[in-house]
Amino acid sequence: MPIIACVNGRVVPIERATVSVEDRGFQFGDGVYEVVRSYHGVLFHLDEHLDRLEQSAKAIRLPLRHSRSHWRRLIQRAYALSRFPEAKVYVQVTRGPSPRDHRFPTHVRPTTVITVRRLEALPWTTRERGVSAVTVPDLRWGRCDVKSVNLLANVLAKEDARAAGAFEAILVRDGVVTEGAVSNCFSVIDGTVVTSPTDPSILPGITRALTADLIRREGIPFRERPVMVDEYRRADEIFLTGTTIEILSVVSLDGRRVGTGSPGKIARRLYDRFMSAVAAECGPAPASRPPGRRRSSRGGDSTRRPVDRLRRRGGL
Ligand code: PDD
Repeated sequence: MPIIACVNGRVVPIERATVSVEDRGFQFGDGVYEVVRSYHGVLFHLDEHLDRLEQSAKAIRLPLRHSRSHWRRLIQRAYALSRFPEAKVYVQVTRGPSPRDHRFPTHVRPTTVITVRRLEALPWTTRERGVSAVTVPDLRWGRCDVKSVNLLANVLAKEDARAAGAFEAILVRDGVVTEGAVSNCFSVIDGTVVTSPTDPSILPGITRALTADLIRREGIPFRERPVMVDEYRRADEIFLTGTTIEILSVVSLDGRRVGTGSPGKIARRLYDRFMSAVAAECGPAPASRPPGRRRSSRGGDSTRRPVDRLRRRGGL
């Protein structure tokens, strides 16, 4: 199945998808994005991602050209056409094409791009063993709460991690851990889970919010406060959260063992609860799903139904 791209509402195979060289996303990184994933045919937390897309767009004064329900339909249609049960859906909106000038164009024609590709799940052994991370200075701008396509500092940090043979870069500003290059960070210190508060120095992760909810529901002591990198160095556990990695333990930081050197008890417990939340929204994984039963995502707006409708209309 080809990777699907939908450019300004037109669905094409990715090799034929193009945008103008004058697009402000290309010229200035003037745009915002979201990454949504599906679990066996249902997009997970789609409304939460659309909430954040709207917040990001508002923060950069970019009018989104569609209503919420239209966005939902567009994304679900692209996803349905891909037929990938486990998919990564990328949604990008830029301030569109216009002759290069830093000032906003008078008439903005936003460019919208949706791509859908197969999600390569993290190998089970990686999750079981945990991953390594290195600390890297946080060189990003002052509005990291905006999911901007301008990701140069994140790209450089992730590359530093790769060069060090690590999975993730943990970003540090003035001695305080903000987040990962592509994830949010939590640590467990003296039995309390701690993580940075949601302020302009971090992205308010969708997985972070769900994880915080699970921690509270489990009655685990929890504090959102600035956490020093030195505290991370003596933490019993460190874990990352993100749409594609879910909840993932860090077992080595800057080459030094974290806790016992294996994924900790709290992260494991939260991962179990996380997968229950996924099953509640997207239905059980195929192996355990009773034949013929289908579940809908939040708001009863199932991703499976558009697939069926498109099939009936001969669209697939
Ligand atoms: N990144 N912080 C940063 C800087 C991120 O880029 C991401 C996600 C997160 C986690 O957010 P969420 O739980 O909503 O996925 C935190 C995505 C997946 C990406 O850029 O590909």
